[in-house]
Parts: sequence; C-alpha cells; structure tokens
Amino acid sequence: MSAVEAFDAVDVIRAKRDGGVVAEDELRWMIDAFTRGYVSDAQMSSFAMAVLLNGMSRDEIRVMTDAMIASGERMSFAGLGKTTVDKHSTGGVGDKITLPLAPLVASFGVAVPQLSGRGLGHTGGTLDKLESIPGWRASLSNEELTAQLRNVGAVVCAAGSGLAPADKRLYALRDVTGTVEAIPLIASSIMSKKIAEGTSALVLDVKFGSGAFMRDVEKARELARTMVALGTDSGVATTALLTDMNTPLGLAIGNANEVRESAEVLAGGGPADIVELTIALAKEMLALAGQPDADVEAALADGRAMDSWRAMIAAQGGDPDAALPTPNETHTVFAGRSGVVTRLDALPFGIAAWRLGAGRARAEDPVVHAAGIDLHVKPGDAVLEGSPLFTLSADDGARFERALAAVHGAWDIGGSAPANTPLVLERITA
Ligand code: URA
Repeated sequence: MSAVEAFDAVDVIRAKRDGGVVAEDELRWMIDAFTRGYVSDAQMSSFAMAVLLNGMSRDEIRVMTDAMIASGERMSFAGLGKTTVDKHSTGGVGDKITLPLAPLVASFGVAVPQLSGRGLGHTGGTLDKLESIPGWRASLSNEELTAQLRNVGAVVCAAGSGLAPADKRLYALRDVTGTVEAIPLIASSIMSKKIAEGTSALVLDVKFGSGAFMRDVEKARELARTMVALGTDSGVATTALLTDMNTPLGLAIGNANEVRESAEVLAGGGPADIVELTIALAKEMLALAGQPDADVEAALADGRAMDSWRAMIAAQGGDPDAALPTPNETHTVFAGRSGVVTRLDALPFGIAAWRLGAGRARAEDPVVHAAGIDLHVKPGDAVLEGSPLFTLSADDGARFERALAAVHGAWDIGGSAPANTPLVLERITA
C-alpha cells in the first residue's frame, strides 16, 4: 500500500451518492486505486450503485473510460499500413453476424480485428461458435494477430486479459450487485475495451427488444448515443445502428448451426434478416474506412467474401471444409394449427438453446457445439397444422424437457401476418 493516497474513496462515493459530479483527478484515482486493490470491492460496488442511481455527465463517462483504458495495455495497429475497423454488438439471440461480416469487410482490403469473448447466459459467444470448426484456435499472440491482420485482414480471436483489467474486476462486481444496467457503466465498459484494442473506427450494433441486453428502445438509443460520443471523444470514428432483437436473428441458434448458417450467407444465400444486417453493418464499416461506395452485395455474390472467410479460418488452424459436429438427439415441435406465425420471442428461444447446452451457466463450463435450435419458420411465414416449427438439438435427450418449458408460449400462430417492423431502426452518428 502506498504511504499517501491522494483522495479518499468515501468522499468520491458520497459525491456521486448526493448527485454531484466527480472531479477528473478523483475519478482517475478511484479507478487506479481500485485496480491496485486499495479501494475495496465494497467501496467500488457502492460507487457503482451511486452511478446507477444518479448517472454520470458526458465528461465523467469519458474520464471513467480513459481511466479503465489506462489500467492495462493499449494496442496499436498504426504500423499495419491498413485502415482498421471493428464492430461490436451488444448481443442477442442467433447473432452470428460477426462471422460473415469480418471476412466480408476484410475482402475490401480493410483490417478487421474482432477481439471477442465467450458467451455467458442466453447470448452466445462468437468464440464458442467458431470453436465448432475442427482445429480452429481462439488464442493468438499479439504478433500472430498483427500478422493475420496484415496477410488476411480479418481476425476473430480471444481478447487478451491485458485490455482494461479494471473493467474486468468492475464487471464482476456489477454482476453480483445489481448494477450491470447503468448506462455510463455499460458504455465505459464496452468502449474501454474497444478503444484499448486500438481500432481506428468502430461500428456498434446496439440491440433492443426481448432478446437484447436493453429491452427498451429508449434505453438502447441512450446507450448508443453515449457510446458514439465516447468513441468520438477518444478519436475513434464511431457510428451505431439500433437494431431489433425481438425475434431470433436467422434460423440457427447455437454454435455449429450458426457457423453453417454464416457459411450460407458467405456463399451468397442465407436468411434475409442475416443478409440485411450483415450488409448494413458492412456498409457502415466500409464508409468509416473511406469506402462509402463499396459494392458489398457483389462481394457476397461472387465468392470474394467466402475466400476471405476460408483464409481467416485456415490462418487460425481451422479446416473450413471439415464436417461440423452433429447432435446425438433431436426433437421437432410441430404447428398445432394452420395460419401465419405472428410472434417468435427471442429471449425464450435463447434460454432454451442455452439449456440445451449451447451456452454456459458458469464461465468455466464447456459448451456443446452441436446443441441448439433450428427454426423452420419466422414471423410472417404461413404454416399448416402439423408442419415443423423448430427442431431442438442436444447431446442428451434429457435436456429437451427444460428447453421446451423455456419456449412454452413463446410463439403465436394467427389469422393474418404481423405488421412489418424494420430490422435496422435508426443510425446514430456523432
Ligand atoms: N458488455 C460489456 O462488456 N460490459 C457491460 O457492461 C455490458 C456488456
């Protein structure tokens, strides 16, 4: 412990508790002293609750983010000779967009460093999905990462523990103290890691709806605006799309099946919503990289994006042609009446896939790569009584009961098609 500390944690907590603004040097000290272990978990949790209740000014959020970046390593791709653009999604059900998106954008000569995490809870992790591919390796050294960005362009790999370690400790506290939902804390958590990663531009996919972290569209919009402002203030060109996560994205929810669906998109096919969102995000990313007129659709149709995917997978030891794992057991649910699917609620399907083994309850648990759900219909599709609605897959049929309980009442079949709602609701810029 240092002999003399510059500030007192209790003063900082009281200032935020009483609705005040914490001065820059005090806030920087608070994060630094927490990282050093001088400010206790109890004090930091109390501070997080004060932030949840009273919010933070734009300037406080900037300082908080900056202090978390300063707690660890800061990467730089300045010597790469290529523009770098990253994408971050706040997470959803069936959200495999990174898989087709990174190689698609890289096929235009842009470097896409996607430092990703593993899934916890009902939203899947990109690394878990890619680990369905035999031989594929998530961990790369910084040298391997840089070499792959230079030679292939797209990299999806595990984020090193050196990036924003203060966030890692704070997030663990927030998780158990009811303070995850504070917008200043979410924004500084996500953006500290993204800025520390050293990307020069960033596109955020901020989701709202039942399967999203933020159910409420107003809150999602506020989060998006906060993160766009933070990125911009830190010199990272940042834009956001506000996207609907009330219905699972695509038809596959799981790991291996999501890789399969992504490969379909890269082959020029795939479900319309996945293609739409992939194209919308790719255009945003390429516009930030100085290519506003890039013909993204052509790169999907003519095989350039697929070539880039194959190179990306092979560079990390994966065999893009290898058979993906298949489940031991499947269970199909059929329509109880004829009509049109009017609702298919994302969250219950996410929870069911998780219970089937596609996700993990504890960070140390393994996932079952072949487990998950394949939808046969989406809202707006006509069905006949007795036709298949969705198929559950698992390594053990004993898992079906709890998965079926999760999706009980999660879809409706009615007489007429539901109103069309846009997948991309809004574009948010600085
Ligand atoms: N993801 C993060 O990295 N941090 C949060 O606070 C929420 C989601």
